[in-house]
Amino acid sequence: MRTETPQPIRLSDYRPPAYLVDDVHLTFDLQPNTTRVKARLTVRRNGDHSEPLAFNGERLKAVSVAIDGRVLGDGEYVIDAELLTIPAPPAAFTLETEVEIDPENNKALEGLYMSGGRFCTQCEAEGFRKITFWPDRPDVLSRFTVRIEADRRFRHLLANGNLVETGELPGGRHFAVWNDPFLKPCYLFALVAGELDVLEDKLVTKSGRTVDLRIYVDPGMAPRAAYAMDALKRSMTWDEEAYGREYDLDLFMIVAVRDFNFGAMENKGLNIFNSSLLLADPATATDVDYERIEAVVAHEYFHNWTGNRITCRDWFQLCLKEGLTVFREQGFCADMRGEAVQRIKAVKVLRMRQFSEDQGPLAHPVRPSSYMKIDNFYTATIYEKGSEVIGMLKTLIGADAFRKGMDLYFDRHDGEATTVEAFIQCFAEASGRDLGDFFAWYEQAGTPRITLSATYDEAARTLELVLTQATPPSNGQETKRPLPIPVTLGLLDHEGRTLAFERDGQAMDETVIVLDQPEVKVTLTGVDSLPVVSALRGFSAPVVMKTDAEPKERYVQLAADPDLFNRWEAGQDLAADLILSRAAGKPNEVGEERYAEAVGRALNDQASDNAFKALLLALPAETDLALMRSPVDPGALHDAREALRLRLALHLDAELRRLHTGLQDLGEFSPDAAGAGRRALRNAALELMAANPRNDVADIALGHFRAAVNMTDQIGGLNALMLIGGPAFEEALADFYARWKDEPLVIDKWFALQGRDPSETALGRILGLTAHPAFDQKNPNRLRALVSSFANFNPVRFHDPSGAGYRFLADQIIAVDGFNPMTAARLVDPLGGWRRLKPELGALMKAQLERIVAVEGLSKNVYELATRALN
Ligand code: PHE
Ligand code: ZN
Repeated sequence: MRTETPQPIRLSDYRPPAYLVDDVHLTFDLQPNTTRVKARLTVRRNGDHSEPLAFNGERLKAVSVAIDGRVLGDGEYVIDAELLTIPAPPAAFTLETEVEIDPENNKALEGLYMSGGRFCTQCEAEGFRKITFWPDRPDVLSRFTVRIEADRRFRHLLANGNLVETGELPGGRHFAVWNDPFLKPCYLFALVAGELDVLEDKLVTKSGRTVDLRIYVDPGMAPRAAYAMDALKRSMTWDEEAYGREYDLDLFMIVAVRDFNFGAMENKGLNIFNSSLLLADPATATDVDYERIEAVVAHEYFHNWTGNRITCRDWFQLCLKEGLTVFREQGFCADMRGEAVQRIKAVKVLRMRQFSEDQGPLAHPVRPSSYMKIDNFYTATIYEKGSEVIGMLKTLIGADAFRKGMDLYFDRHDGEATTVEAFIQCFAEASGRDLGDFFAWYEQAGTPRITLSATYDEAARTLELVLTQATPPSNGQETKRPLPIPVTLGLLDHEGRTLAFERDGQAMDETVIVLDQPEVKVTLTGVDSLPVVSALRGFSAPVVMKTDAEPKERYVQLAADPDLFNRWEAGQDLAADLILSRAAGKPNEVGEERYAEAVGRALNDQASDNAFKALLLALPAETDLALMRSPVDPGALHDAREALRLRLALHLDAELRRLHTGLQDLGEFSPDAAGAGRRALRNAALELMAANPRNDVADIALGHFRAAVNMTDQIGGLNALMLIGGPAFEEALADFYARWKDEPLVIDKWFALQGRDPSETALGRILGLTAHPAFDQKNPNRLRALVSSFANFNPVRFHDPSGAGYRFLADQIIAVDGFNPMTAARLVDPLGGWRRLKPELGALMKAQLERIVAVEGLSKNVYELATRALN
């Protein structure tokens, strides 16, 4: 056990910084093992007090500390493992420090580290303190000038802002000086140095300024940055049109690196990306990769206004930048690729990641009130639910007032580090509404459960709707207040036609009911026939809804609901009920046939697009089904879901073959939504065919794999072969490896695919893959490819009755925690679900958490999550 228990940090303890830094001049003398960092800070006491100066600093070898040019002696300052303390500094002064750091041996990938022979940095959330002594908190905003000196083999020397000077130095070295004119917190600082290729372009902004755009990548990879560049230009223009936001510097740079703990980072003017979210060409990237690249490039770019120009006062406000930026990103993606399909995909992610978080011990509000390590709070709740909350705000006050509120926010808080309260205040003023109740969405954890029941009175032509809400208790929050829940709702007749109605005397097709009490009753009038209620359209709130609708009403929706989200949702609800009944030992064979028939009809609907049909064809994920009943028996869920897959595959056999043949790509590959949709449907058809035990299916899958001319189809083929198993799969797997062994991003896919293999013999292979020469724990992409895909996307094998899956995950967490706590901690989540599992499994899982917590020298990151998972 650890000797001292880490203490939580609380929102209620927030105090403004004791000292501010207005300007800083940093000089980096870069050497892989002994980099020197000199910092000259203009420091000012904040307010009238006599507190000591306490700046953060970790793993820094201090060389000297000076005030106003005078080097301090022993006793004039103290440096411990976390802080530089100066007991009684003047009210305003220049602080000069010099430290030495070792980037080469920094495998935590925070602060200054090396990736692929290049220097790079990652400072969010608290990495800057591993570079120099600094008040490392987002409410200290400073003007940065950065001088970089390095050997000439580090050809490109990059930092934030504008390049102001370059030159030669003796001894084969050179330098560059960068100045960022915008105030920024230190977490947005970035530096990159190394040999890189660059893809260049330009964009003219709406006010007529020309911005240079540069994407830096590994030598030889520049062509693979073309799609990211295109996405960047579209994002910049979109933000001008949708939010009136223009880019503010003359240069925008992105650098791709292979070793990165997260997806990407919005450093001012110098975004740093995980190369998996930047590089793409048809041969090596799938359509899913293209789609994510587009989304993440946009996300990081949008941060320039929501995060950088206006940043967070403290890390409790993280959703202020993340939830809002995800919301903006989703708006962009909807405009690029279609609203309904994007909405369905976003909700799938929300349910899989956020709803499960909310049901487990790690449940927390969108704005948490305490944490130990902020790194642990880059969660689906902050990001995805944070975005949903903003979507609800927009639904509640309307699009015009929402845009006005955003304008006010940009106007009022530009250049500030602010809070969620200040943000919401802008919308209260813009809409003239009291949004006091709304704030509970930020403060309360858990997924609300809502119910809806409808009673039709034929004689009176009225429909009475009764809605209720309740949010289950979560860790530290035993009782919950009612929330204002916007429920978007319309009616259909039993032929699937839109049924108009009146609310408060006004005729309409659709309305938003605000469920803001434990129970709300609404009477709709002028309803001409017995309606099918289409509620929570577009998933208008992040809740779980139960209605009194019967299957036949769901079938009407699946065939015809004009709200495509609800059309898809009806199919998912029907499928989930069938799977859950079968898993409980009550198979409904008639229902299953009926479902297969309805899916067949939906596939033939000429009016709906391929991407949508691909989504319709996929059954609810086992992880989603696991959230619907407890105790969970993952094996039974898997078997029941497979049984329904088999029934669909048999019933739709002819249709699936027709799709598979008819949707082949003709001509040039295009990563656009139409091309991606066609490939998605074709691969979804193949995946379902794989459930069909007929012999020729393996041949079709192998043919698909062999004939593939792009990565989407190659992975589609390999995936189907994996589900079929046998020699054809083994052969294809070996071929794939041989062909792509020099392409790390493709080999990540090879590991990830095997991690997801649900077949009975897969566990041995998965555990053995850590001994494969290409496996590398130190590279987060490779680690996650195998370990996260297994623990998160392969429930039937992860929950092996022997407990071997849990033990494997714990082994990886413990080993990785020794050098990269941030990444180790992000693997803990799948162990949080032990309470909901059937008891035999739950006990095995819990034992692994206990084993982790008992490890000597465990990081705060893993300690926080593992103890919370246990308690
Ligand atoms: N701020 C990054 C984003 O969401 C995420 C990130 C957090 C990256 C911490 C690195 C470290 O855009
Ligand atoms: Zn972000």
